[in-house]
This record gives sequence, C-alpha cells and structure tokens, in this order.
Amino acid sequence: MKKVSVIGAGNVGATAVYHIARLNLAEVVVVDVVEGLPQAKAMDFAHTAPGRGFGVSVKGTNDYADIEASDVVVMTAGIARKPGMDRMDLLKTNVNIAKSAAQAIAKYAPDSIVIAVTNPLDVIAMVMLRETKFPWQRVVGMAGVLDSTRFRYFIAEQLDVWPGDVEAMVLGGHGDSMVPLTSFASVGGFPIQELMDAETIERLVERTRKGGGEIVNYLKSGSAYYAPGASAARMVEAVLRGESALIPASAHLDGQYGYKNIFLGVPVRLGSGGIEEVLDLELSSEEKAALDKSAAAVEEGVKTLESIYTPG
Ligand SMILES: NC(=O)c1ccc[n+]([C@@H]2O[C@H](COP(=O)([O-])OP(=O)(O)OC[C@H]3O[C@@H](n4cnc5c(N)ncnc54)[C@H](O)[C@@H]3O)[C@@H](O)[C@H]2O)c1
Repeated sequence: MKKVSVIGAGNVGATAVYHIARLNLAEVVVVDVVEGLPQAKAMDFAHTAPGRGFGVSVKGTNDYADIEASDVVVMTAGIARKPGMDRMDLLKTNVNIAKSAAQAIAKYAPDSIVIAVTNPLDVIAMVMLRETKFPWQRVVGMAGVLDSTRFRYFIAEQLDVWPGDVEAMVLGGHGDSMVPLTSFASVGGFPIQELMDAETIERLVERTRKGGGEIVNYLKSGSAYYAPGASAARMVEAVLRGESALIPASAHLDGQYGYKNIFLGVPVRLGSGGIEEVLDLELSSEEKAALDKSAAAVEEGVKTLESIYTPG
C-alpha cells in the first residue's frame, strides 16, 4: 500500500485527505501543529469509510516522524488570505512553516514526491525545493489544476454544458496575472471561439484570474478549499497511478519558455517519478507576453524571498 502524508489539517489539507482516502489511493497521514486537530479530523473521516466505500487508514498526528517513508507529501500548512490580502502578503509567515516542513520531509521521507500548495505558491515551492534538496522533478506546485478547473467551470456555466466536456489550461504564476490560454480551450472538441464572442471570453478570463479572490471576499475569514483540496488530490492520483497526466503545474524551470530558476505554471507530464517532462507549447505572441508579465511577478516574489530567507 502506498503512503501519502498531508502537512496541515486545515481546510485545504483536510479536503485533500478526504479525496485521497475516498479514492483508496493510499494510506494517509495528516500532520498539524495544533494538538488534537489532525486526530479529530482523521477519526471523523474514518467514520465515513463504510458509507463511502473506502478501506485505507487515515491517521492524524502532531509528530512529523509519522510521515516516514511516504511516497507523496502534500504541503498545505500555512496561513491563508483574508479580504484585502494578496497571496504575496502571506510570504513572511509561510516561509518559516515551509522551511520546517521541508526539513522534516527531507529527514523522514527522502524519496517522496512533494506537492506544494501553500501560498504564495510559486515562491513557497522554491523554498520546498531548496530545503529538501530534492531533484527538481520531485517538487511540484499545485495551482494550474485549480485555476484550469475554475476556467473550465466558468466556460461550462456560460454555455450550459457538462463541465467535464470542457478542456482548458491556465499557465503562469498563481496570482492575478495568471494566463488562461483561450486558444487551447474547447468544448467537446469545438474551440470556444466558435461558441462565444471575444468579449464573453475576456470576461471569463478575468473571472478566472480573480476566482480565488471572489471566494475570499465572500468567506472573509479564509480562502477557498474544496476545489484546491480536490485539485491537490488529483495530482496525488496522477503520481500514484503513474498516469503521465498532461496537466498544468508549477515547475522549476531551467530555460523552458525562456525562464530560469523560477517556479512557474507550465504544462507538464505528471507521473510516478514526479514531473516527467515540461511540454513546450507554441504560444501566440499575446499569450507569451502575458506569461512574461506573470513570470515577472513571480520573479519579484523571489526577490522578496531572498531578502527574508536564510537557508536552513
Ligand atoms: N495553491 C493553491 O492553489 C492554493 C489554493 C488554496 C489555498 N492555498 C494555500 O494553502 C494554505 C492552507 O490554506 P487553508 O485554507 O487550509 O488554511 P487553514 O488555516 O485552514 O489551515 C492551515 C493549517 O496549517 C497548520 N500549520 C501551521 N503551521 C504548521 C506547521 N509548521 N506544521 C504543520 N501544520 C501547520 C495550521 O495549524 C492549520 O491547521 C494557505 O497558504 C493558502 O493560501 C493554496
């Protein structure tokens, strides 16, 4: 039986645990610093097993040693946004949480694949890579699956079609300058340009970019978690089933798309070894310009990181 550990038993972590267990993907360990919280949530999930038809064990703990020999570790620990906050505002607090989690992962689960979720995503993924000292293929950020699923949903809602029939990809950093690729979006094989006008497409693109913020403004005390947790579990599934799934994810780039030494959302193949390939898509000049803008925002974040971060 494979083993997945989820760091952080908060809203996103708990939702990811539920989906991983429900799919019988692996035995699950969930770690949090708050005493009793991961134990309570693990127990509560386990009680859904008979009705939901899963049999894997779900254990809650406050001890990082329990993540030992995990195949995959999902990092969700850290503070979330409140109204008026940018994802970058979370950096100072979350860097230190990411550092301690990454060091524990390197110690107890040295062969694992790390899926970073904590925000600001593309910068925290960099901290996870540096602190684990894992090869780049084994540290991947979750954002593109979520942002794409939002874009797909908005297209489906607009056209009143089955959401699963909509294909679309969002690249770039996980911030308001993310890049929903309109030229690659389709419904049942039809390009969306055949189904709606340019103004409507632009409105859906903008709504996708601000999709997380729209939920933060309603919630007031935190950020989205159902779709983020499900998206992280989708990536765990692709790894454990060795799918070589073609999905967008934040990867450490070394010259691809013209960027070096930053994490950025790009199309990858995700499988049992982590990132098996970064796919080079031919982007339109407009899309490439938007990706440049998004990469510049991530580079700014990395600059801020360098000013507050001392490697462990
Ligand atoms: N990448 C994405 O697309 C995406 C989407 C949604 C949320 N997020 C981010 O995910 C993170 C979690 O969001 P949430 O809504 O679950 O927040 P939350 O506050 O509900 O949960 C965070 C949990 O982390 C725990 N924690 C803090 N320090 C820890 C440590 N050192 N070790 C273990 N656990 C620790 C807290 O006790 C808390 O239970 C936030 O940073 C949020 O911005 C990312």
